[in-house]
Amino acid sequence: MRVLVTAGPTREFIDPVRFISNRSSGKMGYAVAVAARDRGHEVVLVSGPVALPPPAGIRVIKVVSAADMLAVVSEQLDACDALVMAAAVADWRPAEVSGQKVKKRDAATELKLVPTADILLTLKPRKGDRVFVGFAAETTGMEAEARRKLSDKGLDMIVANDVSQPDAGFDVETNRVVLIAAEGTAQALPLMPKREVAAEIIEWVERANRRVPAALAPACGSRAGDESARRLSRQWDFIREIDKLKRVLRRTLLMDGSRYENDAEHSWHLAVMAVLLREHANEPGLDIGRVIRMVLVHDIVEIDAGDTYCYDEKGNVGKVEREKVAADRLFGLLPGDQKTEMMALWDEFEARATPEAKFAAALDRVQPLMHNHGTGGVVWKAHGVKAGKVIERNRHVEEGSLRIWEFAESMIRDAVKRGYLEE
Ligand code: PMT
Repeated sequence: MRVLVTAGPTREFIDPVRFISNRSSGKMGYAVAVAARDRGHEVVLVSGPVALPPPAGIRVIKVVSAADMLAVVSEQLDACDALVMAAAVADWRPAEVSGQKVKKRDAATELKLVPTADILLTLKPRKGDRVFVGFAAETTGMEAEARRKLSDKGLDMIVANDVSQPDAGFDVETNRVVLIAAEGTAQALPLMPKREVAAEIIEWVERANRRVPAALAPACGSRAGDESARRLSRQWDFIREIDKLKRVLRRTLLMDGSRYENDAEHSWHLAVMAVLLREHANEPGLDIGRVIRMVLVHDIVEIDAGDTYCYDEKGNVGKVEREKVAADRLFGLLPGDQKTEMMALWDEFEARATPEAKFAAALDRVQPLMHNHGTGGVVWKAHGVKAGKVIERNRHVEEGSLRIWEFAESMIRDAVKRGYLEE
C-alpha cells in the first residue's frame, strides 16, 4: 500500500513572528508513519512544524499552515491507497496577515479569525476506494463527537482520542484511544505506547484496504446485490481476522512434544472428535452439527482475550469480562444476523446447559488430557498440577459423555501410575 500520513500542528501566522497553533508534537502521526513503513508500506508523511527527526525510509514533506497541508495532501492523494490524518490542523486562521511585525503599540486587542479549509471534508469527494482515517481529539463527549466527525467527513474509521488525561493525547509517549469504524463497531484500546496504537491503526487500515471491493460481488447494482456485497465484505473481514487464532498458543504440547499447540489446531481437533465420537454422547439425539459449530467458535474470543490456562487461578480472574468484550468486537465484524448466531453459539458453549454444549465441553476437556498423557505430563509437571485437581476440573466431562469420562479417568490413573502426574 501507499500510505499518506499527516502529523503535527499547523501554524497560522498573524505577522512574520507570531502565530496561533496547538500542542501537537507530531509523535502520534510519526508513529503511524513508522508503523506503516515497518509493515512494508510506502509512506509519505506530511508534517507540520515539529522537533522530531525525519524517520528513515519515509518521504517527509514539511508544511506550515493548514492551507499548505491541504495543498500537499491534495497533490499526493491520487497516488495513495490510504490517508491517515493524525495532524492537529488549526481550525481557524487570522483573517488578515501582516507582512511586517505588528508593533505592540499598533496592535488591536482582538484578533479576527476565519475558519481554515477542512482537509478531510475537502477531499471527501475524491475518496473513492481509498481508506480514510481521521482522529478526533476531544476533552468531553468523546465518542458522540467522534462518531459525528466520522460521518460528516465520510471516513472509514476515526481514532477517538481522549486528550483530557495527562498520559494521553498531546505531546506524551502514550495514548488511549477508541477505534470507531463506519460500520459502527468500536474497539477501545488500553493505555499504550503511541507506537503500539499506531500498529493497531495500520493493521486496521490493511484489513480495510483488503475488503472485497463491492464491484467484485455477484449481482452488484441491484439493491439485493449491494447488500450481498456488503455482507461478503464483512464476512471476509471476520475470516481474515480469525487467522490470528493460529497465533494464540495453548499450554498443550503437540503429541510429538515439538511445540505448543495453537487455538485453531485445538478447535479443528475437537470438530473431528465431535464427528467421530458422537455415538458416545449421553444424549443420542443431539444435534452434532451444532456441536461442531460450537467447538469451531468457542475459542475465537481468545484472539483478543488470550488463552487462560485452566489451572491458573489468578489468570482466570476477570476472564469472563475480557472474553465478553472480545466476543462483542470479533463477532461484531460480521453482519448482524451472523453476529447474533455466533454469540448464541458461544454463550451456549459457555453456559454448558444443553446436551450439545455439555458434549462440546467434554471434548474440550478430554483433548488436552490426551495431549498431556501423550507427552509424559510435561506441562502438568511444569505447573505443579496434581491428579485431584485434574479430576475436579474435568469431572464435568461426564455430563456430556459418561463413556468418555470413564476413558478419561483411566487415562488420569495411568498418568499417575507412570509418574506423569502427581497423586
Ligand atoms: O502530535 P501528538 O503530540 O502526538 O498528539 C497527537 C494528537 C492528539 C494530535 C492526535 O492523536 C490527534 O488526536 N490528532 C487529531 C487532532 C485534531 O485536530 O482533531 P479534530 O477533532 O480537530 O479533527 C478531526 C479530524 O479532522 C482530524 O483527523 C484532523 O486531522 C482533521 N482536520 C481537522 C481540521 C481541518 N481543518 N482539517 C482536517 O482535516
